[in-house]
Amino acid sequence: MQQNPIPFLDLVTPHIELEQQLTAVFQKVLTSARFIGGPMVEQFEKHFADFCTVKHCCALNSGTDAVRFALIAAGIRQGDVAFTVPNTFIATVEGISQAGAIAEFIEINEQTFSLDPENLEKHIARHCTYDAKSKTLFSKRWQRPVRAIVPVHLYGQTADMDPIMEIARRYDLVVVEDACQAHGARYFSKKENRWRVAGSIGDAAAFSFYPGKNLGAMGEGGAVTTNDALIDRTVRMLRDHGQVEKYLHEIEGYNGRLDALQAGILDVKLARLSDGNAKRRTCAHYYTERLSSSKKIVCFREPSWAECVFHLYIVRVPNRREVQRSLDNEKIGTGLHYPTPLHLQKAYVHLHYRSGDFPVTEKTSAEILSLPMFPGLTKEQQDRVAATLVAAVGG
Ligand SMILES: Cc1ncc(COP(=O)(O)O)c(C=O)c1O
Repeated sequence: MQQNPIPFLDLVTPHIELEQQLTAVFQKVLTSARFIGGPMVEQFEKHFADFCTVKHCCALNSGTDAVRFALIAAGIRQGDVAFTVPNTFIATVEGISQAGAIAEFIEINEQTFSLDPENLEKHIARHCTYDAKSKTLFSKRWQRPVRAIVPVHLYGQTADMDPIMEIARRYDLVVVEDACQAHGARYFSKKENRWRVAGSIGDAAAFSFYPGKNLGAMGEGGAVTTNDALIDRTVRMLRDHGQVEKYLHEIEGYNGRLDALQAGILDVKLARLSDGNAKRRTCAHYYTERLSSSKKIVCFREPSWAECVFHLYIVRVPNRREVQRSLDNEKIGTGLHYPTPLHLQKAYVHLHYRSGDFPVTEKTSAEILSLPMFPGLTKEQQDRVAATLVAAVGG
């Protein structure tokens, strides 16, 4: 019997469910002709700032610009070094490079897939010098000052932020969270004895509203969140040609604004985000329950300090190519996030990394497989994914 396909991601159903509200947004934009800026953008910014428990949110046209503008606004300048991880979407490093900085990679933690604070400490001890007089950390690799850390909250789970923030404060480094995959994820800060929301922990954070994200636009979108009024003010200038008021340009900026239509759509979808995240968590726990009896499949496990919002649900499997093909034969959609680490990409040969430089990243990138994950995924669909996967790895 022909089985129904199980998509990797279902973007049709949630939009059809919201058809009336989304059409009303379009009607409003149509009749007001406020296409750029205006009350719809401001309303979304306020609601998303509240959601992230921060004072400011500046809506932008993409997550890539969010990383770039946040770094520039936080004072990163040409030739500064920024630490980040090699297993992320290229946009993290594009944002760093396009802010004029140089990305220096830190190995990830094998359990969390994110920046490992211990590796960060070791890296600083071995590959940096600290000038106490100028309070500046220098990269030996580049003979340039290190000014920023960009931890990536990959797959919907925050990095271990307490020690990262502690290291950043010790060396006077700016922290820009790449929260592009982590809308609503939470981190338990032992230091503060409370849960913190992704996007509210560092000096600033970057979000993407690319359609497939937990909060996705019907087009491109992004935002910078921060509690720092000066960073927010600068990001607002950067997104709008450096203007403080019409035709008064304090700096040279960019065209990085979010359309009013997208802001209205995002505002409608934001009301459902927490519910969608909760459903993703339920689906993730069900996958883990169904798959953990297999000795060959390694499931993604949340540390006690994380509340992951499962933008992606990944497993590690042997013979990934064959396993992915078996799922494909059963019409089950899968993804690879990400198959080639950034230090091995042609785009970054000028950073002079080699194969073997990041063994954990390289090993995991060859084994990870992303399974179907979206709030409307049913138990029956998950049962079929799990059964097919277990059979494909051979038990
Ligand atoms: C980790 C990460 N950083 C940055 C981005 C860039 O976001 P955008 O595609 O909105 O530019 C993305 C989105 O794909 C991402 O997943």
